[in-house]
Amino acid sequence: MQLLAKTLHGFEETLAEELRQLGATKIEERKRAVAFEGDLKLMYRANLELRTAIRVLMPIANFKARNEDEFYDKIKAIDWEQYMTIKQTLAVDAVTASKTFNHSKYIALKTKDAIVDQFREKYKKRPNVRVYNPHLGVYIYIHDEQVNVSIDSTGESLHRRGYRVASVDAPINEVLGAGMILLSGWDKKGLLMDPMCGSGTLLIEAAMYAHNIPPNQLRTHFAFMNWKEYDEEMWGNVKQLAKDHIVEHTDPIMGWDKNLGCVRKTEQNIEAAGLTGKIEVKRKRFERLEPPEGPGMLIMNPPYDERLEEDNIEEFYEIIGDTLKKKYSGYNAWLISSNMEAIKSIGLRTSRKITLFNGKLECKFVKYEMYQGSKKQKSESEEIFE
Ligand SMILES: C[S@@+](CC[C@H](N)C(=O)[O-])C[C@H]1O[C@@H](n2cnc3c(N)ncnc32)[C@H](O)[C@@H]1O
Repeated sequence: MQLLAKTLHGFEETLAEELRQLGATKIEERKRAVAFEGDLKLMYRANLELRTAIRVLMPIANFKARNEDEFYDKIKAIDWEQYMTIKQTLAVDAVTASKTFNHSKYIALKTKDAIVDQFREKYKKRPNVRVYNPHLGVYIYIHDEQVNVSIDSTGESLHRRGYRVASVDAPINEVLGAGMILLSGWDKKGLLMDPMCGSGTLLIEAAMYAHNIPPNQLRTHFAFMNWKEYDEEMWGNVKQLAKDHIVEHTDPIMGWDKNLGCVRKTEQNIEAAGLTGKIEVKRKRFERLEPPEGPGMLIMNPPYDERLEEDNIEEFYEIIGDTLKKKYSGYNAWLISSNMEAIKSIGLRTSRKITLFNGKLECKFVKYEMYQGSKKQKSESEEIFE
């Protein structure tokens, strides 16, 4: 069957690669999504094992509609009893890129009307709408006059892994965190560190990746469990198979934060993720930290002066740059920030620069290669952020 995994901006290629490794076929990158083909088992695996997907949709209809009446009739013509019972609840989400249908909320409402009318005409009763955690989530996407109708196999977004029991002021989305680890090209070897770990998202996502732990193994509910054709035995097998593929990983994964509260919260989240003993966390300011000798991989998400304020953000980033230069020779250092001026203050040459979004904030995920010995970072005059 045809499936569609949705993701965040910038992770389409990473997600396509994850799907390739799961054995999906006919993989096609789209905008913030990847289309693919697979069977029911693959759909279960996608929900359990994909690190960069936020949900997995199953397209059920594709048609052309020239006006609202035609749209309503064609939605109503779908046999909705295949997907839900009258006692179950429903929610509809719509996205439109169309002159004919330019009001997505109205399209969602029309869709809901068509579905409940189908039930009402048959049974004189209608299913209820429930926005949060409905039995059936219906997704409409309209491009010009082309309508795609999908149903959601995921339910609550896949970034809700189930390990975040303690949060901080500006945590990173788990899917964004996992994607950053994958984009960094970390080969699971040698030290991985996050010196400003907050609630520990990057560390936990890195450790799950290193141990081959499925990111959503803690979740107890997915929308596909509400479906009529839910195969509990197959789901059990999929979970067991993933469990059998978990591996030992002994290279160090280490985090620091200047705030003791963050260190404690990271420890709680590590415990909830079942990773106690696999990640080390300590309290220390980045400027004072004496890191293990390189090579190593450093990934960090410092304050941007948006949600977390800094007294002098440019000076703070300048200190980050100086510290990297002084103490991190042999490291590959990645940093994400929405503050472009502050990134410039780091004063080091970036070897990669990727646009990502942290929520609504457009960010750059930048890489600095801190060469050892003679191949040092370029001299001050050449150090630029292009
Ligand atoms: C944006 S938060 C990181 C959030 C984290 N990625 C997560 O998912 O929870 C930035 C963190 O940097 C820490 N921090 C700020 N300045 C620091 C410094 N000089 N040294 C170490 N940690 C610092 C803050 O305490 C905060 O927890």
